[in-house]
Amino acid sequence: MHVLGINCLAHDTAAALVVDGQVVAFVEEERLSREKHTWKFPDQAIRWCLDTAGLAVDEIDLVTFDYRPGLDYARGMAYDILPHLPRSAKHWAKQTYVDGRHVWKAKDFRRRWGYKGRIRFIEHHRTHAAAAFLSSPFDRAVALSIDRGGDYLSTAAYLCEGTQMREIARVRNPHSLGELYSAVTWWLGFKPNCDEGKVMGLASYGRPTYLDDFRSIVRCRPNGEFRIDLSWAGWHTEHGNAWVSQRFLKRFGPPPPSRGTHHRVPRGRRLWPPGRRRGGRAQPGPGGRDPVRHRPRPLPGGRCGAQLGDERPAADRRPLP
Ligand SMILES: [Fe+2]
Repeated sequence: MHVLGINCLAHDTAAALVVDGQVVAFVEEERLSREKHTWKFPDQAIRWCLDTAGLAVDEIDLVTFDYRPGLDYARGMAYDILPHLPRSAKHWAKQTYVDGRHVWKAKDFRRRWGYKGRIRFIEHHRTHAAAAFLSSPFDRAVALSIDRGGDYLSTAAYLCEGTQMREIARVRNPHSLGELYSAVTWWLGFKPNCDEGKVMGLASYGRPTYLDDFRSIVRCRPNGEFRIDLSWAGWHTEHGNAWVSQRFLKRFGPPPPSRGTHHRVPRGRRLWPPGRRRGGRAQPGPGGRDPVRHRPRPLPGGRCGAQLGDERPAADRRPLP
């Protein structure tokens, strides 16, 4: 059986091809288009997967997408939509657009690629958990998916056995560790939904100064679930693009004036609170180096990230990715 998986609804679009239960090709669109974190439909990735397996599109038995339109409504109706009307109307209008766009993308794929086979929309967290479990060496395991959100869940756990997966726990949005991580990414001056990896890297230079604050923001329950104290959060409101609340800003200070670039993050200012700095400068990280001052220098010509070409010697070059 030939299954083509397509991720096309958000950033880092990608395609994967599974033949008789084995992954034979997988690639993110950015590796072919050279656009970091691209949102574009992964046409090049699909072509690459098909070419790698030597298959034509009419030999695909099933195409899958990694969200199920309508699930947000089904899961959010009682918890979010009805209790917060009319305030919730704007948010759910956006959701209608997102769901409609997802269905449209599937139809558009069918039309442009001339695909006549089956298409299925798979629950988002189930796809994450399946990717982890089916590629693991275990016959039986619990798979845990922690995300910003997907189909109105931020977190889900599955008991996986063979080819069966049974959901055993879930946490609904807006209680989301991923949203909180993105909010902190935004507040630090980085780009949310994009630069979380940079924040993760910088975190190793930090100290648990705000541990007590974050323990009050994220509250663990005896059954293993968690809840976010939403008085710190802004992502669940419908008042524009506020990632955090006034309470958060009052406690931790305002974000940097410009968005979307880490080059303007004041040194150490967001890694340590003022009281923990020495002489107004950030304390050194591992190896005695100031993590912010010792940023890697730009490459010649100011190139970086997506602008990088293939830097390998010509003899070593093989087709990307
Ligand atoms: Fe996800």
